Amino acid sequence: MACPSQTMWCFSLQRRSLHSSSCLMKKLKGKTPAEQRWLQRQLKDPYVKASHAQNFRCRSAFKLLEIDDKFRLLQPGCSVVDCGAAPGAWSQVAVQRVNSAGTAEGDAVLPHGTVVGIDLLNIPPLDGAHFLSSHDVTDPVTHTKLLELLPNGQAHVILSDMAPNASGFREMDHEKLITMCLSLIDLAEKILQPGGSLVCKYWDGILAHKLQKKLSSVFSSVQTLKPNASRKDSAERYFLARMYRKPVKG
Ligand SMILES: C[S@@+](CC[C@H](N)C(=O)[O-])C[C@H]1O[C@@H](n2cnc3c(N)ncnc32)[C@H](O)[C@@H]1O
Repeated sequence: MACPSQTMWCFSLQRRSLHSSSCLMKKLKGKTPAEQRWLQRQLKDPYVKASHAQNFRCRSAFKLLEIDDKFRLLQPGCSVVDCGAAPGAWSQVAVQRVNSAGTAEGDAVLPHGTVVGIDLLNIPPLDGAHFLSSHDVTDPVTHTKLLELLPNGQAHVILSDMAPNASGFREMDHEKLITMCLSLIDLAEKILQPGGSLVCKYWDGILAHKLQKKLSSVFSSVQTLKPNASRKDSAERYFLARMYRKPVKG
């Protein structure tokens, strides 16, 4: 499940040094037992430490880095849509990899890509990314804005680390997230170029096969990923769908 803080607490954590034990005690004071457990886990987590060291806004950056190191989806010059982008760690990775800020080594020859991030929440600004804060990925108004922001209205890659606020009812949360992922197939039809890729997070459960089947009907390759940075005890998984085939309208 998503971290209970969702994103903004996670982001504010990046800004503070929590390493001394006195600081830890202060942080734990007044927190509920669940919050204390979460905070203590965060402080022990090597990916949280690495995200501080590398200035990523959240540990989730390492999930995308791992996926992209293996599958090389984010090439310089690519256009990327990051769905559920707040606080912006995946967008940070995408900006670096597609060179949308023009800072990659060998910049003189490397093409500049585009990164557009969308979230219901506010996404703090980031060089090289255009953010649609307070926007719903499933809303057609958002789709219209995306078409205007993307070069030729086309994306090479759609990323989704979207997650609804967890209700605590596993089946219900699973269903909600699957519905959100299914909506990405409609978005793909509008903006994903043929041959493009989609990475989407889901929580495992009985409807995962339905999503996989839908993805397989429009992508030539669909596989399930569980990056090392994804906590072992979470139901979180990712589908990587590649080689998009735009449906022919009849
Ligand atoms: C786990 S966080 C994403 C973290 C992000 N990948 C990062 O690396 O910083 C999930 C995000 O999905 C967003 N979200 C959930 N439903 C959404 C929707 N319908 N439209 C846009 N964003 C949504 C939430 O607001 C939340 O910020």
